[in-house]
Amino acid sequence: MPDSINTHRRRILLGGSAALAAGMLPLSAFAADPIKVGLIVPMSGPFASTGRQIEAAVKLYQQKYGDTVAGRKVEILLKDDGGLSPDVTKRLAQELVSRDKVQVLAGFGLTPLALAAAPIATQAKVPMIVTAAATSIIPQRSPFIVRTGFTLPQVTAPLASWAAKNKIKSVVTFVSDYGPGIDAEKVFVKTFTDAGGKVVESLRAPLRNPDYAPFLQRVKDAKPEALFVFVPSGEGAAVLKQFTERGLAAAGIRLICTGDVLDDDLMASIGAASNGVVSSHHYSAAHPSPLNKEYVDGIAKANKGMRANFHSVGGYDGMHLLYEALKKTNGDTDGEKLIAAMKGMSWESVRGPVTLDAAARDMVQNVYIRKAELRGSEYYNVEFDQVEKFKDPGV
Ligand code: PHB
Repeated sequence: MPDSINTHRRRILLGGSAALAAGMLPLSAFAADPIKVGLIVPMSGPFASTGRQIEAAVKLYQQKYGDTVAGRKVEILLKDDGGLSPDVTKRLAQELVSRDKVQVLAGFGLTPLALAAAPIATQAKVPMIVTAAATSIIPQRSPFIVRTGFTLPQVTAPLASWAAKNKIKSVVTFVSDYGPGIDAEKVFVKTFTDAGGKVVESLRAPLRNPDYAPFLQRVKDAKPEALFVFVPSGEGAAVLKQFTERGLAAAGIRLICTGDVLDDDLMASIGAASNGVVSSHHYSAAHPSPLNKEYVDGIAKANKGMRANFHSVGGYDGMHLLYEALKKTNGDTDGEKLIAAMKGMSWESVRGPVTLDAAARDMVQNVYIRKAELRGSEYYNVEFDQVEKFKDPGV
């Protein structure tokens, strides 16, 4: 019998006229219990846009597909971890599992936060749907982790190949100094160098309270043909501001970056500084499909015009993965059964076709090369090339 049902029975037993109830309650009575999902995201602090986007997507999903699946209501317990402290995320995950009895954990805005919660998922045998954090190694930290976002190696390798093919010969890399940044740096350097390019210098800025000005001054002095950048979602506008103010573009240095830097949520504040910048990512709000148009319109309409970004899509597809898995298990929330039901699942996402790789528990998906262009009165990352069904290559 699944753990969840056992636990529930135990509670009934403790609750009163027990033997009779335990013997006679039909399964459908258990099935009527809500399924609780602990959604831990930054809703405050420097990465609050990640939480806002994921929350909006989860709400839109439930609005569209209902809050009930396989006869059970899906209840979301939203927790703000502030985005910066692994201890806070870990405590919230622990409380959600032991006090609130959630059957699923989801969210996780940044790598250190996802890594801190991984042992809790393993101990409690609770699926942990990582919708945002993107360092390659994360799913290896627990057999209960599945990831509906992307990895930095996955989006960086295609850009490094594109740069080499497009006659860029010398590059300085510049990343945030933690998991995803180090992944991006390593993969860019290897892929670009293997293709005959030269990495002149590799710079790393601190994640907390970064001052990008001195780094960009150094890049200007090094005079590479291009600068490759990864900073996490939320930080891109500050980098673009310094890139412009220090006159790097004017000095003939070309900016290339992962889509995290030109996050759709930030494009309005970055504005013309993004014009012509080539980036790579698994999602753009400008992805030309009817499904995506409907999605972008839905997010905007329900959230005062907010433009959907890639973190929202990770959240939306995380809900899809959970709902479809619950259909397969007939509402059984046993962690091992849910993970087994999720492995290998394919669907048409608003980003394009995706599959949750059964072995890696990561998305296999298209990675798009895009160029920032003015569309109407706003800048968008317009896809012009793609690597299809691309797996995380690791580091
Ligand atoms: C991460 O911490 O893993 C992370 C956060 C934001 C991004 C990418 C990676 O845009």
